[in-house]
Amino acid sequence: MAGTALAKGGIKALSSGVAYQRCLNPLCGATLDVGQFRTACERCGDLLDIEYDWARIPVPKQLSEFEQMWTRRHEPLRFSGVWRFYELLPFAPPDKVVTVGEGQTLLQQANDVAKFVGLDAGQLYLQYEGMNPSGSFKDNGMCAAFSHARLTGAKRAACASTGNTSASLSMYSSVTGLMKALIFIGSGKISYGKLSQALEYGALTVQIAGDFDDAMIRVREVSQDLGIYLVNSINPFRLEGQKTVMLRVLEALRWQVPDWIVVPGGNLGNSSAFGKAFMELKQLGLIDRLPRLAVINAAGADTLFQLYERRGLRWNGGKPDMAITCNYYDDLDSRKSKADTIASAIEINRPVNLKKCLRALDVCDGTVRKVSDQEILDAKAQVGAGGIGCEPASAASVAGAKLLRQEGVIAPSDRVVCILTGHQLKDPTATVAYHTTDQDQFNEVLGSRGVSRASFANRAIAVPNELDAIIRAIQLYS
Ligand code: F0G
Repeated sequence: MAGTALAKGGIKALSSGVAYQRCLNPLCGATLDVGQFRTACERCGDLLDIEYDWARIPVPKQLSEFEQMWTRRHEPLRFSGVWRFYELLPFAPPDKVVTVGEGQTLLQQANDVAKFVGLDAGQLYLQYEGMNPSGSFKDNGMCAAFSHARLTGAKRAACASTGNTSASLSMYSSVTGLMKALIFIGSGKISYGKLSQALEYGALTVQIAGDFDDAMIRVREVSQDLGIYLVNSINPFRLEGQKTVMLRVLEALRWQVPDWIVVPGGNLGNSSAFGKAFMELKQLGLIDRLPRLAVINAAGADTLFQLYERRGLRWNGGKPDMAITCNYYDDLDSRKSKADTIASAIEINRPVNLKKCLRALDVCDGTVRKVSDQEILDAKAQVGAGGIGCEPASAASVAGAKLLRQEGVIAPSDRVVCILTGHQLKDPTATVAYHTTDQDQFNEVLGSRGVSRASFANRAIAVPNELDAIIRAIQLYS
């Protein structure tokens, strides 16, 4: 019986065939065994999705049964904030599952940020994914991709990255020794915090003359040609791991579904995974309502906003009108328009998970907004003032919630969860430039991006090296 198996806490090996890959395109619907890896459907080229034969899986009758996993946290798999929900992503046998202790995250009630956003006290929560071992949400997906790669016997893994995927891949490679990491980054498009991780963890780092979108195209070609396992979020197994971010949010809210999930949108892996998580939980009868989903683009990288809000692109039962997307991309090309934002993690114009994100928006009655770099940095400063800081891309969620509040789409009494995707220390350049007293430094890093003020700056005070002057300054400013 499901409940009993869970009460014992052990992970039961499930019979093979309970999970399989299926083409996202309903007109194709090709299936593939979980033991294989393809970056796309071989028949029609669409994205692959993971499906389960739920009737053969001992899924708990209630989500609260997962709380019993904590009593088994001496077992590495139940310690993991991803794998203690194993029964909701059982694509790999337990002996292949990889963990480095990911997913020990916190849902923080943030009343000062609630005030900034315009929500009633107690209604804003920050899901802090910067607490993951490599400092971003990527570890939720990387442990799942590594588990699958182990199943396929892969020895090398690659990704294109704006920095966090590469940091996570490099970390899992060196901690587990299972695969060698190959990373592709664009020139000048990666923050030092993230680059330093990949270099120190020993990844083979290829910096190509181009941006993330160029690097993404190349890494797909290279991994195809050289048979290297690809860990970008185009990999459907990664998204299975990322579903658990929502499970931990629900857990922290005592299994109550919030009104809104607000998430930054880059390659659209998170939003796709979150939508899938809620779709499955509803299908399994584990939740009785769905939250609304808001995906927030940076204004300088706003493909999803343009397609969804301005051009009316919709999931349409799995048959979105992709001509709208092709025309949009042709237009970007003809204008030689490249993504450009201080939130370098989401500086992406051609999100690979676009179709899956459309499904998520459909399932969760979603909406999409764009926010400026100014709005992102102000929101980031407000989050950081609360003590648990985040990187610029993460703050897009808070800036987006504020915008939706101003528009009246989010009500003051709504319960809102913003996802903070990456750690504050990932991108110190942007943070220091915002708080600096040095106008040249401010202009160099931020001025060119239309950021004209730092409304919430906490500036350092320059004093001569004299005791009296130091004491006077402290008295004056405290
Ligand atoms: N926030 C952070 C901190 C990220 O690193 C990323 C993506 C996103 C948000 C966007 O998430 O792609 O699921 O919509 N970073 C990728 C990388 C692209 O290469 O590290 P998404």
